[in-house]
Parts: sequence; structure tokens; C-alpha cells
Amino acid sequence: MTSWSPASWQSFPIKQQPTYADQNQLAMALDEIKSMPPLVFAGEINTLKNNLALASKGEMFVLQGGDCAERFQDCNEAAITNKLKILLQMSVVLCYGVRKPVVRIGRIGGQYAKPRSNDFEEVDGKKLPVYRGDIINSYAPDPEGRKPDPDRLVESYYRSALTLNYIRALTTGGFADLHYPDKWDLKFFNQAPSRDRYEKIVTNIRDAIAFMESLGSQNKSLSSVDFYTSHEGLILGYEESQTHFVEEFNGYYNLGAHMLWIGDRTRQLDGAHIEYFRGIANPIGIKVGPSTDPRELLQVIKTLNPKNEAGRLVLISRFGHQKVKNLFPAIAKAVHDSPHNVVWSVDPMHGNAIKTEDGVKTRDFDAILSELRDTYQIHQQLGSVLGGVHFELTGDDVTECTGGAAGITPQDLDRNYETYCDPRLNYSQSLEMAFLISSMLGQ
Ligand code: PEP
Ligand code: CO
Repeated sequence: MTSWSPASWQSFPIKQQPTYADQNQLAMALDEIKSMPPLVFAGEINTLKNNLALASKGEMFVLQGGDCAERFQDCNEAAITNKLKILLQMSVVLCYGVRKPVVRIGRIGGQYAKPRSNDFEEVDGKKLPVYRGDIINSYAPDPEGRKPDPDRLVESYYRSALTLNYIRALTTGGFADLHYPDKWDLKFFNQAPSRDRYEKIVTNIRDAIAFMESLGSQNKSLSSVDFYTSHEGLILGYEESQTHFVEEFNGYYNLGAHMLWIGDRTRQLDGAHIEYFRGIANPIGIKVGPSTDPRELLQVIKTLNPKNEAGRLVLISRFGHQKVKNLFPAIAKAVHDSPHNVVWSVDPMHGNAIKTEDGVKTRDFDAILSELRDTYQIHQQLGSVLGGVHFELTGDDVTECTGGAAGITPQDLDRNYETYCDPRLNYSQSLEMAFLISSMLGQ
């Protein structure tokens, strides 16, 4: 293997990158980002890695979630607060259900780039370059705005910084108290068939917190929480510009986020993404979808984690509820039978996209749950550990996925359909999912 540098990916074949008309402007944008302070500290990244090492042994549980495509306009008080709130609440429910500490990782503070299946799309009969995320071009279907604009890279850095700054204020300044069940919005319960069971869980959580407080430990850990950021490391020029050598830990770190993942479309063994990722010390996620060849996956694992470091790799399976039972067991077994140390998580969103009769992209709550359940059972049968879950969700009351206790039907979807890319679980669907996972894994 050749020597690695933050720029060595540039001589490898690469997918899913925009073509900028003005290379000079691109270089200036990347230089500006390079000159800015990092967004996170390498010590935090090491702590996350230690937590993930515990998750690989089943001693912690990972909750990763957030938007499919974070939008620049989501860098505002309400969107950040609501997303943090739902993730904290889900983490409390999961912590109670699985009886393990939960590692919280947002798809936030930089989740601005999207891999796309096609380079072009047709809008109102006009052929346009496809939207690739706010870091590249504009969502509005206008030919000018769809041109890749290097200034958006800089804008992404600033918006990530602002978002992370506010998250840090909320998670250390007392907002985390909001994970107290008294403050939860549980209206959706009223329609839920399993309302009694959910209510019992909430009462138990409330009692457990009251009990801890009565022991006299007005526990700091209840009002301040750890929260990590992540995004898909797709646009490698942007990622390179945030890669620093950290003397203290003698290694290169991407200091633009705590964790980055490699998408299902960019995990080629001989490709630029694997080359870039092998040299950074951050924990790395790898999406594992239906086209995965088990032998190639083992090679990817070896390349990215030659020292078999615990907590370094999170494999995120995403097969879809119809394929998971056929395709996942062989892959899970290959990894289980190998000496490689990984955390297994499941993303039950990306294999379950469907279109309604009206052509609206959606996902059904029951399909998502079904993939989760099957994945968990496959791990159980193998004796391997499901160490976490990965969702596309929002804290807002959107109508993008069907089903759940709130009973969203395909006809409801256009009421509040906001996503720029894939459909997300809304507040009540997310909380309900946490209750269901808790019961499923807590048995
Ligand atoms: C994503 O997580 O937003 C995504 C595009 O997923 P995948 O690479 O698994 O399709
Ligand atoms: Co998505």
C-alpha cells in the first residue's frame, strides 16, 4: 500500500463529486476552510471511539439520527432544539429498555452532501442537474442555482460551526433536563394500540429518575449529556480541508465532525473514499447494502482498520425489509467468523424507500420496524451483537413517512412534506420507534 496523506485520495478513481467550473474559486474556498479553527477536539473523537469499543462488546448502545439532507435553513434555533430534543428523549427510552448507556450521535452539523443515483432529473418537463445537497447546489429547480458553487463549501463550514456551537450550549447548559419524561409530548399515545405499555415505560423511567435523585445525587449526568456529530464524508476536498495532524495523539484527524461514514455508493475498495478514510483516526461508519460482497467487505474492513482497533468501525446494515433475511445472514456471518472487531448498527431507512401512487417518496413505519426486527434476530441467531440503530428523523411534525400510532396515510403526506431528499420519521414516529426497540431489545 502506498503512503497516505490527506490529499492522497486525489489519485484514485472517485464517485459522486461535483464538477466545478472555476477551479481557482474552488481552491480559494478550500483554503479558507483550512485556515479556520477545527469544529471538534481530537480528544472528543477518542472518547467516542472508546464508547464505540464498548458498543462492539454490547456494553453501550449507539443511537445515530438526524436529517437525510441537512439544509442551510435548518441552522436555526427551533430546528436544532427539536432535533436534539427527540434524540435525547429516544436515548432515554433506549437506555431504559436496553439497560445500557446510550451513545448519541447526530446526523447534524455538516450533513449537507447527498450521493445521487442520477446526474440529472426532470422537473416540470425541464432537464436539470440533480440537487446534491446544500453544500453543492441549490434545491430550487433553476439551472443557475443547480450549478456547483464553491462558496457553498465555506457556507457549510460556517453553518456546521453555528449548529455545533448551539448544540454544545444546549447539552451543557441544562437543556438536557428536557429528557425528563414530564416534558415529553405524548399526545400520540392516545391513539396507540399499545398505549398502556408505553405509559408503563414512561412511569418507570420517571420513577427511576426520581429514585436516583432521592439518593442525593442531583446527578450532573442527568442535566448535561455527551452528544457527537457525524455526516457522510462524501465531498473529499471539503473533508481534506478539515483534516489536521494532531501532535498530541500523533495522528491525522478529521476535525469537522466526530464520526464520518462512507455511503453505500462510495465504498469501493480501490476508490478515493476508502483511500481518504484509511488515514484518519476518527471512528468510521460503513453502509452495508444489498450489493455488498462479503469478501470485499472483509477487505475494506482490513484496509480501514489494519490494527483491528476496537471502536474504529461501525458497520451500518441497510438491506430493506424484503431483502434482509436473504442477504444479510451471509454477510453478518462472514464478519462474525472473522477476527475483525466492529460495531454493528442498522439503518432500516435506506432499503425501504417506496413511491406512493402519486409518485411521492415515502417509507412505511412497519417496513422500518420489520427490517429492525429481522436484523436483530439474525444477530441473535449468530451470537453477534446489534450495537446500535441509525435513523433519518426530525423533531418536527412532518408527514413524510407513513404509519405509526399517529396513523399517517399516503393521503396525509402532502400536509407537511419538507425533506429535500429522503423521508424522515417525525417526532411521534421517532419516539414510538424508540419504545418499540426498547421492548424488542429489552426482553
Ligand atoms: C444516507 O445515509 O443518507 C445515505 C445516502 O445512505 P446510503 O449510503 O446507505 O444509501
Ligand atoms: Co437518506
